Amino acid sequence: MKISVFGLGYVGTISAACLAQMGHEVIGVDVNPNKIGMIAQGQSPVMEAEIGEIIAEQMKQQRLTATADGAWAFARTDLSLICVGTPGKENGSIDLTYVQRIFEEIGDYLSSKSSFHWIVLRSTVLPGTTEQSLIPILEKKSGKSAGKDFGVCFNPEFLREGSSVWDFFNPPKTVIGLLNLSDAPPLLALYESLPAPVIKTSIRDAELVKYLDNVFHALKICFANEIGRVCQALKVDSHELMNIFIQDTNAPIH
Ligand SMILES: NC(=O)c1ccc[n+]([C@@H]2O[C@H](COP(=O)([O-])OP(=O)(O)OC[C@H]3O[C@@H](n4cnc5c(N)ncnc54)[C@H](O)[C@@H]3O)[C@@H](O)[C@H]2O)c1
Repeated sequence: MKISVFGLGYVGTISAACLAQMGHEVIGVDVNPNKIGMIAQGQSPVMEAEIGEIIAEQMKQQRLTATADGAWAFARTDLSLICVGTPGKENGSIDLTYVQRIFEEIGDYLSSKSSFHWIVLRSTVLPGTTEQSLIPILEKKSGKSAGKDFGVCFNPEFLREGSSVWDFFNPPKTVIGLLNLSDAPPLLALYESLPAPVIKTSIRDAELVKYLDNVFHALKICFANEIGRVCQALKVDSHELMNIFIQDTNAPIH
């Protein structure tokens, strides 16, 4: 497949490099010239085990390239992964500036493209954002209709910084949020070879699943810290205690 990846941070770099390693032709796009320069030299813009070697090898094989020219990358690919940042604001909401801006740019690219193109959002956004805020931007800018003239889906990322290459090839699950459950985006074929269930659901469900995942991991960390404190006070080995606790497979918490 010919894939463009917009945003070469943690999520975009890992996705771009690993998809290239799976045999796809990948063009990474970023507004930061330092990141483009690093990838062009076969180096990784993010610190992660194995990623440097994968980027170097995929650049050599010419399956991976990087550019600041989004229009060029969009025109040469059939599917775009959007991985720009959605940083948290002080009031707890998220900043959609980067996502909105990239959807405006892609709306322009769509207007001059005659073949069908899939836009896959991987950035974390609140439920309802894709359908209420982002698809309208694409439709307004391109003058085309989502689901008819171009495809849109939401594919949350569950990788953990520190083990993200391993996580990419061994995901706990793959969730694809669709406008119509009967849609069959080429994304499905992309994940076919990975050892995880592929779950098709609505876009809103897929957006919320990512938050559920984040919140439950935070809850587990808080729980483990609390138990650790109790164990310390009672002079009990917390690892031994947790090993016993997680043997409950009828109501698993892990
Ligand atoms: N980092 C993680 O562990 C992780 C895990 C799961 C999900 N996520 C989510 O994935 C998304 C991306 O996270 P990240 O950590 O990779 O972000 P990041 O901030 O590290 O990287 C985002 C990149 O997007 C680029 N960018 C911004 N606007 C652009 C544009 N118009 N065109 C091209 N590139 C542009 C930036 O220059 C930057 O390199 C966020 O929504 C985040 O919440 C992150």
